[in-house]
Amino acid sequence: MDKAKNAMLPLLAGSILCEGKCVFSNNPNYTDIRNMCEILRSLGAEVSNDNDKLIVDNTNTHKYYISPELAKVIRSSIFALGALLGRFGKARVSYPGGCDIGLRPIDLHLKGLRDLGVNIVEAHGLINCDASKIHGGNVCLDYPSVGATENLIMASVLGKKRRTIIHNVAKEPEIVDLQNFINSMGGKIKGAGTSIVTIDSVEKLHGVDYVPLADRIVAGTYMIAVAMTGGEVEIIGCEASVVQSLIDKLVKSSCKLDIKNDKIIVKSNGCPKSFGFVETMPYPGFPTDLQAQILSLATICKGNSVIRENLFEARFRFVPELIKMGANVVVRDRTAFVSGVKTLQGASVYAGDLRGGVALVLAGLVANGYTTVNDIWHIDRGYKDIEKVLANLGADITRIE
Ligand code: EPZ
Repeated sequence: MDKAKNAMLPLLAGSILCEGKCVFSNNPNYTDIRNMCEILRSLGAEVSNDNDKLIVDNTNTHKYYISPELAKVIRSSIFALGALLGRFGKARVSYPGGCDIGLRPIDLHLKGLRDLGVNIVEAHGLINCDASKIHGGNVCLDYPSVGATENLIMASVLGKKRRTIIHNVAKEPEIVDLQNFINSMGGKIKGAGTSIVTIDSVEKLHGVDYVPLADRIVAGTYMIAVAMTGGEVEIIGCEASVVQSLIDKLVKSSCKLDIKNDKIIVKSNGCPKSFGFVETMPYPGFPTDLQAQILSLATICKGNSVIRENLFEARFRFVPELIKMGANVVVRDRTAFVSGVKTLQGASVYAGDLRGGVALVLAGLVANGYTTVNDIWHIDRGYKDIEKVLANLGADITRIE
C-alpha cells in the first residue's frame, strides 16, 4: 500500500523540529506532498528525491513565516504551525481557508496553543504567534481534531523542560505515526492512539530514516472498488484493524473478507446488498474520508442505505454528479438517503474534491457505458496513478492528458 497522505503531511511538518536530515521511504509523491515540500523549501529546508525516498534536511531551515500564497495551495500548511513554534518559538501563518468539503476552521488549534501560553495576535489575515512563554500542564481539546492534536504535540516537543498533557486528542493511526516518528528522532511522547497524550520536552532532535504508515483511506477505497465491481483483491501492507469500521460494512454488504497479518483479501460477487446505516465519526469510527466512496457503493446495493456525515458540512457535493449517472440519492442536511439501482449509466462528471472525485471513478467502474471524470487533479492529491492501479486490477480505465 502507498504511504498515507495524512501521515506524510504531519511528518513533513514534524521534520522542521529536527536540525538534521530525515529520509522518508516509499514516498507516494502525491500532489499534496509535493506542495508541502514547497512550503518546507520556502522555510529554508533542502528537499530532494532519491527514487522513492524523500530526503528533507532542515539543518538550515530558518524562516518561521509561511506565505499566504503557499498556505492557500495546501490547507495542511497549518500543520507546520506547531513545528515552527517548537523549533523557533514563533510563527507567522495565514488562515488555511476553507476547501471543497467545508469551512475547515482552526479555532481548536489556536485555543489549544493559547492554553499552552502561546501569545497569538490575529491581524490582517495573518496569525502571529509568540511561544516565548509557552508552558506545559494540562490542556483539553473541545473536539478530537486531528490537525489540532498534531499541532499541539509538535509545539510541545522541544524547549525548556516541561510536561504537556493533552486531553481529548484524536486517536487516528496517523497520530500514532507522528508520535513514533518524533520519538525515533529522540522525542518523548506517549499515549498516541488513546484520548490522552503526554509530551516531555527535550532539547534537540536528531535526523532519522523513517517508513511512514500505509494509507488506510487508499486501502479502503480499493476495498470498496472490488465490493462494487465483484472479483478478488489482496491489499498488502495495511493492518485490518485500522479499517475495521469499513470491514464491518463490507461484510454486511455480503463481501467475503480474509485477514492474514498485514494482508486483507476482499472477495465480492459484484451484487452487494445494502449495509444499512453508516455515520462518519472520529477514529475508530467510520472515517469521513471513506464516506463518498461507500456512498458510491450504496448507489448499486440491493436495498436502501442511509449515510450520515458528521464531520464536514459540505461533503456531499459530489452527489449531483452521481445522480447524473442514474443514482437515486436524496440529501437532507448531513444525511444521504440512497435507494440502490440495478445499474448506473456512464456520463461526463466533474470531480469537486479529492474523495468525492474518487467516488465518481468507482461509480464509473460499474456504470453502463463510458464515464469521463473531469478535473482529476483533485484525485491526484491523494492517489498515486489511480488509473494504473485500477487497470492492473482489470478495470477498463485510461487517463486522458
Ligand atoms: C484531517 O483533517 C485530515 N487531513 C482530513 O483528511 C480528515 O478528513 C480529517 O482529519 C478528519 O479525519 C489531514 O490529515 C491532512 P479535523 P483536519 O481537525 O485535521 C472541526 C482527506 O480527504 N474543526 O479532525 O483538518 C472540523 O470543521 C482530508 O484526506 C473545528 O471545528 O480535520 C471538522 O468538522 C479531508 N475547529 C472536525 O473538526 C478546528 O480548529 C474534524 O476536523 C479544527 C477542526
